[in-house]
Amino acid sequence: MENNLLNIESKKEYFIQTFGCQMNEEDSEKLCGMLNRQGYVQTENKEDASIIIFNTCCVRENAENKVFGNVGDLKKLKKKNKDLIIAICGCMMQQKGMADKVLEMFPYVDIIFGTHNSYKFPEYLARVKQSGVQVKEILNKEDKIVEGIPIERKSNVKAFVTVMYGCNNFCTYCVVPYVRGRERSRKPEDIENEIKDLVAKGYKEITLLGQNVNSYGKGLEPHITFADLLRRINKIEGLERIRFMTSHPKDLTDELIYAIRDCDKLCEQIHLPVQSGSSRILKEMNRHYDRDQYLKLVRKIKKEIPNVSISTDIIIGFPGETEEDFNDTLSLVKEVEYDSAFTFIYSRRNNTPADKMENQIPEEIKHDRFNRLLEVTNEIIAKKNSTFEGKTVEVLVEGPSKNDPDKLMGRTRDGRLVNFTGKTENIGELVNVKITKAHAFSLIGEEI
Ligand code: 5AD
Ligand code: SF4
Repeated sequence: MENNLLNIESKKEYFIQTFGCQMNEEDSEKLCGMLNRQGYVQTENKEDASIIIFNTCCVRENAENKVFGNVGDLKKLKKKNKDLIIAICGCMMQQKGMADKVLEMFPYVDIIFGTHNSYKFPEYLARVKQSGVQVKEILNKEDKIVEGIPIERKSNVKAFVTVMYGCNNFCTYCVVPYVRGRERSRKPEDIENEIKDLVAKGYKEITLLGQNVNSYGKGLEPHITFADLLRRINKIEGLERIRFMTSHPKDLTDELIYAIRDCDKLCEQIHLPVQSGSSRILKEMNRHYDRDQYLKLVRKIKKEIPNVSISTDIIIGFPGETEEDFNDTLSLVKEVEYDSAFTFIYSRRNNTPADKMENQIPEEIKHDRFNRLLEVTNEIIAKKNSTFEGKTVEVLVEGPSKNDPDKLMGRTRDGRLVNFTGKTENIGELVNVKITKAHAFSLIGEEI
């Protein structure tokens, strides 16, 4: 038995599972970076791991349920290997009372920490290894921005770079401001240096991340806007593509639209979550724009940035949503003709204003509307994709295709997924691909 434990220890492998958004993905890449620096290696197999980490999300209830299911399943593994260390972190732990609830349900969990102190993970790990005593540390207030944490990125071609943390918007359905804290921006020189370093390592594309990148720079001295930041990053030699997300429609300035139009590296793609097409619901959601303002903004973007692709997030079944409100969403979707859309069924989140609203929508109605919306969005997206048949597009080659090992995959500048036949030596390069067929959610082509 003892030999067996020593074996497991000497392998020093860890398993990490990330739930939720790109922010969490990036946080996980930092956890991996810190562990790799200590000599651990990542494994895809929980059975081989001496550390198992779940980086959690709480934006919707189903994300939370998945975490409960996964942690529950670890009981057997922990029984087999008493030295296994189980760590749970991320947004879900940041919710009031959740860490205690998790420890009550799953007393075999070793480490719990939140979104504001993940840089302390190596310290928590050392404490548990030395003393065997459980560690639970959740900070209620955002800590300073910690720079220089090692990152182990999933891709060698494209990278996420966080430009700001937190959110000040308090949309009434959303838990993010409570678990990610108030907005704070990284210094432009720290962002620039990180990107220059990535470019030196061969990265060609970066996606700048923030809950609402359009309010980047507030509180920084000297004054800087997100558009200024983009213009600075656009000058970095060797970088080919810049993307960013997410843009709150209320803060998307003309200055930013012009920056996208003018900067050659900025991809023609905007993620602009509308959430609802009904002005009445938008007001209840505390979104600070109405249907007409949103549509006007879309018209302006389309006019200034030719061939721009626009994607969105939509919530169905917000409290009080009538059939008329829902039809407003359908008609807005048809008018904008989104290139891609993430559609969500409204999920009640504890302690948010929408959770306390009357007129919660019954599940059957939510599901029915959701399916009707999906039909409309899918039809529009397929129609837009079909216009690419016969065209030649620039693709950044990311690696082998996931569903066909004989093909490669990559994305167009406007964010479309392309599976194509091409040369493997071009992985990491920009190539031209002729599109031979359009599927509903991807394109098929041949490198030329
Ligand atoms: N229910 C459903 N969807 C939600 N989102 C945020 N909170 C909720 C919720 N309570 C969606 C929004 C947001 C995306 C990241 O998740 O559309 O833009
Ligand atoms: Fe949530 Fe609204 Fe902030 Fe987005 S802008 S993270 S939806 S509160």
